[in-house]
Amino acid sequence: MGRRAGVKSRRVVLIGFGAIASDIAAALLAASEPGYALGVLLRPDSPSRPRVPDSCTALASLDEVEAYAPDLVIEAAGHAAVRDSVPGCLALGLPVLISSIGALHGEALLADLVATARKGGGRLLLASGALGGLDYVRAVRHATQLDLRYESRKPPAAWSAELQRLGHDPATLSQPVTLFSGTAREAAALYPQNLNVAAALALAGPGFEATGVDVVCDPAATGNMHVVTASSEFGTMALTIANRPSPANPKSSWIVAQALLAAVEQHFSPVVML
Ligand SMILES: NC(=O)c1ccc[n+]([C@@H]2O[C@H](COP(=O)([O-])OP(=O)(O)OC[C@H]3O[C@@H](n4cnc5c(N)ncnc54)[C@H](O)[C@@H]3O)[C@@H](O)[C@H]2O)c1
Repeated sequence: MGRRAGVKSRRVVLIGFGAIASDIAAALLAASEPGYALGVLLRPDSPSRPRVPDSCTALASLDEVEAYAPDLVIEAAGHAAVRDSVPGCLALGLPVLISSIGALHGEALLADLVATARKGGGRLLLASGALGGLDYVRAVRHATQLDLRYESRKPPAAWSAELQRLGHDPATLSQPVTLFSGTAREAAALYPQNLNVAAALALAGPGFEATGVDVVCDPAATGNMHVVTASSEFGTMALTIANRPSPANPKSSWIVAQALLAAVEQHFSPVVML
């Protein structure tokens, strides 16, 4: 999709083209005026290349991203892409919306990205992803009596390897098993690919050390469940979300692409809900 006469379409670059990015691309390409022009940044050997629609511009390097001059970059590629591609985009002064928030549990990477964004004029935008309620968590983050806890509850299939390591058979598990209980810092380091949600909560709230995390494997769980509880001098919140898996990638929740699309809408909207 190119620029229409007299109407400037929004230019977006997607990093990665898996389950989440392809849902985003389909929605943006179908959007009405002013519409979107899409570039897709992939690694040279990416197996996703054949699935990129012809109407998208394939980009192979940061130089090509710069020449494409996007209004927004969206990372939906994984933790390695946050380390490899996001710093360069921020240095170009671009706003970058990231989904792989778990990558930010490393203090050095986060500090680096913030410094690069400050220097280059870019902006790191963190998607709410599979979780909700982050507006409330942001509001209570400075409460003096804050107790913030997150519980991830998933069926045994999601944690087969971990269960087997602990001596459980995932196929015959009859009771819930708590795999982990500790801080968001420890959880993100132990299960980096699984705990984007814990990282998002910690960053919205009081930080990785002050956010409690429980990881529970439950044979009765039908989907990926997230339970967040917050208690402070301002009151209490209890939130339960049960996400359906993406049809294209059972490891990701289907809602994540919709959350990123909502963030794209906000990015370009004259009215922003914070
Ligand atoms: N915040 C959340 O709640 C949340 C939830 C689910 C997933 N995620 C994140 O979204 C990411 C994408 O999820 P998905 O379901 O689309 O995964 P997927 O495996 O279907 O697709 C990943 C895509 O990224 C590409 N890729 C991998 N590394 C890359 C790199 N360094 N540079 C460019 N492209 C690269 C792959 O080739 C593939 O096209 C996950 O890795 C996860 O970190 C976040």
